[in-house]
Amino acid sequence: MLCGGRKFPKWGWIMTSLSNWQVPRSNCVTKTFSSSSAWMRRRTIQYLVLLFVGAVATHLYFFSSDGIDPSYIPDWLQEDETPEAVSKGRLLADAPKRNAVVAAFKHAWSAYERDAMGSDEYHPISHQGKNLSHTGGIGYTIVDAIDTMLLMDLKEEYSRAAEWVRTSLRFDRDGHSRCFNTFETTIRVLGGLLSAHHLTSDPMYLHHAVDLADRMLPAFDTTSGLPMTSIDLEQRKGIADVYISTAEATTLQLEFRDLAQLTGNEIYWHKAEKVMAVVEKARLPSNLAPISMSANDGTYLLSDIRLGSRGDSYYEYLLKQYLQTVRTEPVYLKMYEDAMQGIHDHLVHKTPKHKLTYLAELHPRGPNWQTTWDVEPKQDHLVCFLAGSLMLGATTAGALPNTKVSVPPQMSELTKAGRRDWETGVALLEGCMATHQTATGLSPEIAQFRPGPGSLPDRDWHIKGWRAGGSAPYDARYMLRPETIESLFLAWRLTGNPKYRAYAWGIFQGIELHARLPGGGYATVLDVDTVPTKLDDKQETFYLSETLKYLFLTFADEDVISLDEYVFNTEAHPLPIFRPSSIQPLFTL
Ligand SMILES: *[C@@H]1O[C@H](CO)[C@@H](O)[C@H](O)[C@H]1NC(C)=O
Repeated sequence: MLCGGRKFPKWGWIMTSLSNWQVPRSNCVTKTFSSSSAWMRRRTIQYLVLLFVGAVATHLYFFSSDGIDPSYIPDWLQEDETPEAVSKGRLLADAPKRNAVVAAFKHAWSAYERDAMGSDEYHPISHQGKNLSHTGGIGYTIVDAIDTMLLMDLKEEYSRAAEWVRTSLRFDRDGHSRCFNTFETTIRVLGGLLSAHHLTSDPMYLHHAVDLADRMLPAFDTTSGLPMTSIDLEQRKGIADVYISTAEATTLQLEFRDLAQLTGNEIYWHKAEKVMAVVEKARLPSNLAPISMSANDGTYLLSDIRLGSRGDSYYEYLLKQYLQTVRTEPVYLKMYEDAMQGIHDHLVHKTPKHKLTYLAELHPRGPNWQTTWDVEPKQDHLVCFLAGSLMLGATTAGALPNTKVSVPPQMSELTKAGRRDWETGVALLEGCMATHQTATGLSPEIAQFRPGPGSLPDRDWHIKGWRAGGSAPYDARYMLRPETIESLFLAWRLTGNPKYRAYAWGIFQGIELHARLPGGGYATVLDVDTVPTKLDDKQETFYLSETLKYLFLTFADEDVISLDEYVFNTEAHPLPIFRPSSIQPLFTL
């Protein structure tokens, strides 16, 4: 294999075969056993095993320090006083906690710089870098991290990263083996370059952004106008696939529109907006978007509906396209409002016991669209972005006309849909926080929202695939993802309620205690419910660009990237809100 890293680092595990979407699935709601005494025996054994595992875990937790680095005593354990958070209606920085996040960034970045500078991906346990293409890197980690350094005011780190961009960044890399995913390259590298340009005004970044985008434009040369999944940057050729993930096709727009605005070159805008016209034309009566589309004819393929992987940022970018252009494009407002209605009609659920709000998935059961859909109470960690997105949407798209929405919003300032979205966002965030009630305080990749085995008996959710006494399932991992923290950041900014800072701080503590490598860097936790933790040899680039940036912003002054002036792309790269100059809409509803 020529490609160095995994093809789709953020979503790789979910890339199912095409045949998969036709297979009927059981709805997994109940399991029955042949007789009740067999059931009792099984239950008893399960409980005994559970008790044993619980005892061992508790022992390890309390008697072996944090399991990774017994000598490490984080600075923040000493700095306990919390400064005043809000003064005269302004949200103030919490400097000690903000500085602790900056120290974490330095710990993560310096290890990468020492072991793997210039490589796209970083393996912090084996101290190695890896490139997506065998012919060299495209700045996947460096470009993704630059704006975080700028916001944190890390001058020395920034100057070395900028020097690398000046001397070494190149996009003429051989990618004919699908090394470069159109979506991932856009959100991480193009998005990173654009933000770096906006924050520094250095033309070097814009120059690289134009070069990269021009190499990517051929990805849009399909019959439908939906982009191809992968791109060969050296040959400037898209690599065709039978299908494309809906989120991959619809999460390029903020970046290409920003570049069009910066350069005056409308081709970037039109290619990206055409995708939205295709998606709008394919709209289903439910207003929900199945996760796969046909790149040839631009229609949905019969596939799962979810707000998790491959669906998530379609919904995110509907709202953000509307916000990006100072709310001047009603077409995105309407698409967003209809989609949020669909989500409330079909996906929002509560658990019976603790009334935790979560989003279910819909899985098609038959071979065609006249099918029944199984409701699966399964939620990816990725879904947690939606909590903050709903709150942001409620206070913007859901504000009454000519109303300045307060912090926190008064319900009298919002439309009916705005009030509904606000309430769901707040409740979903609590549901997401419930998935952090684990041995590590970190949440797993996938939670099933019904009672099941696990280390804490009172949870009415469990980790997908978890078996008492068994080895940890794949989805028990925490790969340093940002989504809950991103929502906590938005919730903090929109309410000023210190509860959200406390939640974010708790997650940060979990990361410091359970994912931090003493020798430098942070790694994926393999099982959030077992301490001491075992780690996987990967520090994802989004840890630097998203997780630590949103943590930093949660504890920074509210003037650092004001929500009135910026939208964040889905990789947490801030892009300025602007009034479009000359560009005419390609489609209306
Ligand atoms: C990846 O490519 C960069 C050049 O862009 C190079 O500096 C680095 O050493 C390469 N990494 C590996 C592991 O080959």
